[in-house]
Order: sequence, then C-alpha cells, then structure tokens
Amino acid sequence: MPRIVRPTAYGSPDVLAVTEVPTPRAAADGVVVEVRAAGVNPVDWKLYSGTFHAVAEDLKDAAGIAASMPSVGLECAGVVTEVGRDVTGVRVGDEVIVYPVTAAYADRVTAPATSVLPKPAGLGWAEAGSLMLTGTTAVHALHAAGVGAGDTVLVHGGSGGVGLMGVQLAAAAGATVIATAAERNHALLRELGAVPVVYGAGLADRVRAVAPRGVDAAVDFAGTDEALDVSLELVADRTRIASIAGSPRRAAAGIAVLGYGPGQDAGTEVRTAARGQLVEQAGSGALRVVVATTFPLDEAAKAHEVGLAGHAPGKLVLIP
Ligand SMILES: NC(=O)c1ccc[n+]([C@@H]2O[C@H](COP(=O)([O-])OP(=O)(O)OC[C@H]3O[C@@H](n4cnc5c(N)ncnc54)[C@H](OP(=O)(O)O)[C@@H]3O)[C@@H](O)[C@H]2O)c1
Repeated sequence: MPRIVRPTAYGSPDVLAVTEVPTPRAAADGVVVEVRAAGVNPVDWKLYSGTFHAVAEDLKDAAGIAASMPSVGLECAGVVTEVGRDVTGVRVGDEVIVYPVTAAYADRVTAPATSVLPKPAGLGWAEAGSLMLTGTTAVHALHAAGVGAGDTVLVHGGSGGVGLMGVQLAAAAGATVIATAAERNHALLRELGAVPVVYGAGLADRVRAVAPRGVDAAVDFAGTDEALDVSLELVADRTRIASIAGSPRRAAAGIAVLGYGPGQDAGTEVRTAARGQLVEQAGSGALRVVVATTFPLDEAAKAHEVGLAGHAPGKLVLIP
C-alpha cells in the first residue's frame, strides 16, 4: 500500500509518522503521480508546529492528537500512473513536476492536471522535486522589488533554498548581486554570480564596501530584524524592498510583504506564470537547484530537524 507522512499532532518533528493509505484515484480533471522526490520547505514544519495556528486544547483528544491535522509537502516530481477522463496533454508514464500540490510526502499523490509540468530529461529527480516552491517565491520577490539589468540588489539569506534561486535569477537578469550568508557558503555564492558578505553586526558597512555606488533594491529571504533594518538603511526607495517574512515592523515599513498572511501579496499570477520559465532554465542548466541532502520518506522528521536548524546549504529532499 502507498505510504504517506503526516503529523499526528501539533508539535516538533517527532509528531511526523508514516502511515499506509489506500491507493488514491484520479479525479476527472486530475492525475495520480508516483512520487520520486518531494521538496522539503520551512512551510512544512510551520504547518504543524503552531507557527501559523494557535492550537486550541479542545481540538486534541486525551492522547494529544488533534482532530484534523494539516498534510505536509507542497511540491514533488514523479511519474504519472493514472489520468482523469477529462485530462488532455498528460499521459501515463510521463515524468512530471507537480506544483502546487498537497500531501506530497508520499509514495503517490493526486493533483489537478493544471499543477503538472513536464520534467526535463536532464534534470535529476531530487532537483525537479525541489525546484518550484523556492523558484516561484524568488521570482515573485525579484518582481516585487523591480530587480532588473543594471541594478545592484542585496539578497538577505542568499544561501538558503529561496536565496540560491534569487541570487541566480537576479544575476541572470543582469543585476549585480550582493548576498548575505555564513562564510562557509561564500564559495558557492561566488560560483553562482554573487558577491557574498557575512550577516551580523556591521552588515550595512560591509555591503557599502562592496557596493560603493549604492544598493538599488533588496530582497529579504532571512526574515531577521537585521535584514529589515539594513535594507531600510541602504535602499532609498522603500517600494524596492520585498520581504517573504511577515512581521508587524515590515507591515508598517511600507515595503512589499509577500506571502499568504493577512495584508500580504500572494503573487499567485506571477508565481503561476513563473513555473514554465523555471522548468526551462533548470532543464537547460542555466538555473542550478542545489540539493543539500536527501532522506528516505521515513526519515522526514530528521529532514525537518535539519531544516529547523536553519543552515542547510540548499534543498532538503525526501526520496520515497
Ligand atoms: N512568503 C513566502 O511566500 C515564502 C515562501 C518560501 C519561503 N518562505 C520563508 O522564507 C524563509 C527562508 O526559506 P528557505 O526555504 O530559503 O529556508 P532555508 O533553506 O532554511 O534557508 C535559510 C537560510 O537563512 C540563512 N540564515 C540563517 N540565519 C540567518 C541570519 N541570522 N541572518 C541572515 N541569514 C540567515 C541561512 O544561511 P547560512 O546557512 O549561510 O547561515 C540559510 O541558508 C523561511 O522562513 C520560509 O518559511 C516564505
């Protein structure tokens, strides 16, 4: 029987459990995909950690298990095993990238056919399964900050999943990219076309030293107070600062706050439209998906512990 990883309660990664489920069937406008790789993203643990939801005690039974738990896994890649009767353009046996999708930490997923894109032959499974969430987010942030040729852009969190995408996409667009990261990730960032700087006290001065003509735009993929403060200090036009982290200070600062919380810009059109471009760039090798570590499905909790530590150099990926 197919297996799926689900949180059994709100809490830390040890609430994740593998259970067996019946083989899913395709809806008329959907497909079933045998998952070969599922990308791990911070939103996955935020869904059950309580970050997004205050968990009322009366939702839990005596064993501490909540009545209705969210599923985890918002992106994957795999092979189509069933196609709904109304679906055209997708066939059993196609190798595909699936995004957006839910419950992707599994052997099999169902998805609407609109979420399915052909996987380029030269792109590995782990890379294909972890390209989309970070890629579309980075495209949205660079779009919101208006980053283009001739700009100097500061990328906070340049060595994270979203950051590594943002760095490459901004450089490909013709911008000069300054990216913050821990020193051990600087060689990788240089390889990808950025000027790396260490985050922490004195960041604004370090950025000024490598950008004597100033910084035109900033994208915040780190979500720290420092990222906000340094962006506000160095970028004259606040409409050219975009953050993917919500906070009261960001909401009050007059910058673009991107995401799914109240008052944030979800950027659905930009993100949906970006998928084709990302597949093409990753397939041609112009865009590199940096995979830090792969884990078997039953080690999802371990993957989340590594992710929660906050310093994985690239994507964490589950391989069923
Ligand atoms: N709003 C949205 O639509 C949206 C979409 C995707 C992600 N997100 C959020 O964006 C954040 C980043 O996601 P991700 O997938 O890129 O996470 P990630 O892969 O875990 O990357 C986190 C990065 O943050 C860096 N970092 C850690 N401490 C830092 C500090 N004090 N200052 C600056 N950078 C620091 C780390 O760099 P070093 O390893 O070099 O220390 C690491 O590479 C998460 O909070 C996620 O939930 C939001």
